[in-house]
Amino acid sequence: MRYTLEIIDYTYDGLGVGKVDGFPIFVEYAGLGDVVEVEVTKRKKNLAFAKVKKYIVRKSVKPICKDFYQCGGCQIMHLPYDEQLRFKTNHVRNTIERIGKVETDVRDAIGMENPYHYRNKLIMPFEGELAGIYRKGTHDIVDVKNCHIFNEESFQIAQFLRGKANLRNVLVRNAEYSDALMVVLISRTPVNKSLANEIVQEFPNVVSVINNINDLSTNVVLGSKSEVLYGEDEYHDTLLGNDYLINHRSFYQINIPQTETLYNEAITAVDLENKTVVDAYCGIGSIGLSFAKKAKYVYGIEINESSVEIARVNALNNGIDNIEFIQGKAEEKISSVIEGVDVVITDPPRKGCGEEFLMSLIDNSIKEVVYVSCNVSTLARDINYLRDYYRVEYIQPVDMFPHTFHIECVAKLVRK
Ligand SMILES: C[S@@+](CC[C@H](N)C(=O)[O-])C[C@H]1O[C@@H](n2cnc3c(N)ncnc32)[C@H](O)[C@@H]1O
Repeated sequence: MRYTLEIIDYTYDGLGVGKVDGFPIFVEYAGLGDVVEVEVTKRKKNLAFAKVKKYIVRKSVKPICKDFYQCGGCQIMHLPYDEQLRFKTNHVRNTIERIGKVETDVRDAIGMENPYHYRNKLIMPFEGELAGIYRKGTHDIVDVKNCHIFNEESFQIAQFLRGKANLRNVLVRNAEYSDALMVVLISRTPVNKSLANEIVQEFPNVVSVINNINDLSTNVVLGSKSEVLYGEDEYHDTLLGNDYLINHRSFYQINIPQTETLYNEAITAVDLENKTVVDAYCGIGSIGLSFAKKAKYVYGIEINESSVEIARVNALNNGIDNIEFIQGKAEEKISSVIEGVDVVITDPPRKGCGEEFLMSLIDNSIKEVVYVSCNVSTLARDINYLRDYYRVEYIQPVDMFPHTFHIECVAKLVRK
């Protein structure tokens, strides 16, 4: 069935929404204000999915990436960047209202001046000569020969490695404020060591080459065994003036300029002068270390042992001694340090904070909470849990992942 309709809204994942006689139709690759002729691809009881056959009025744009329609990496490159930001801001507003059940000031999302080549961590599946990104919702590789999101040199390295060894995946990480790169070759059996020399000769900025062995038939990228083929299992990057050591397994934010914006938002949300602060889910310590010089004392809590070890080295390397890192689950360890704490900054993984963790905030009457979130649905759920005890002063979305539907938020919560 074909219909002509105007796009008047979006779904959470960036499909355009139009209506025919009040019946909602979700349209792929259509933006607000587009008038499109569509063909229905799937009909359900209360809605239908459709694809565009013809743009009659076009407010959306032709994506600059020729693989956009196949590749699963980006979802909303067909929207002009300012429209992407509007879409994300509205998504945060709607989710906080619907799931969080609070009214608050959701500010306009802060975007990037140049929203391309921001990604400092490239992961590409390989299959012989084929290297690329998985097709949407599948494990078929789209053979990508150009990408506007990854760091350009990381992408060139991945291209250079096509067909060079029997690789499963390639992981390349790059520093933002130096030219250093780390290459991780993931294979079922050890690769020939001379490949590391070939890489370094061609790309002299590479400071580390690692061979990770993964012979398991799962989707997990890294196996448990690794061998350093060149340099050390480390490189350094700078974030808000501090030096960070990163290894091939560390969690490290993938868009550093926007991470600096995000952390500045988190740090300036509260007056940290002379305060005792918890940095929960702290990774390699980058939020806590960024404000430790202002605060009286900081406790970082993190589950991953290797990240905690690195966080401690990062504190030493930056001469910061009023911070302590505790290894374990934030929801379990928080009670051991919470007495006397003034502010909690929490930056959990996508699944959000556990109830036990949120109860600790309530039970200990923590005055101010700064919640950094990469998943607005779980942020809204946790806000709902806290809302009898905490007022949400504002939420500031920050666009860490341009051209995808993901958005990061900083929420400031104050005890009622
Ligand atoms: C979104 S990352 C934030 C890391 C850090 N704040 C940053 O900005 O780089 C979430 C971190 O939570 C850690 N994590 C996951 N579950 C945890 C838990 N139950 N308790 C403590 N840390 C946890 C992960 O290892 C990861 O480092």
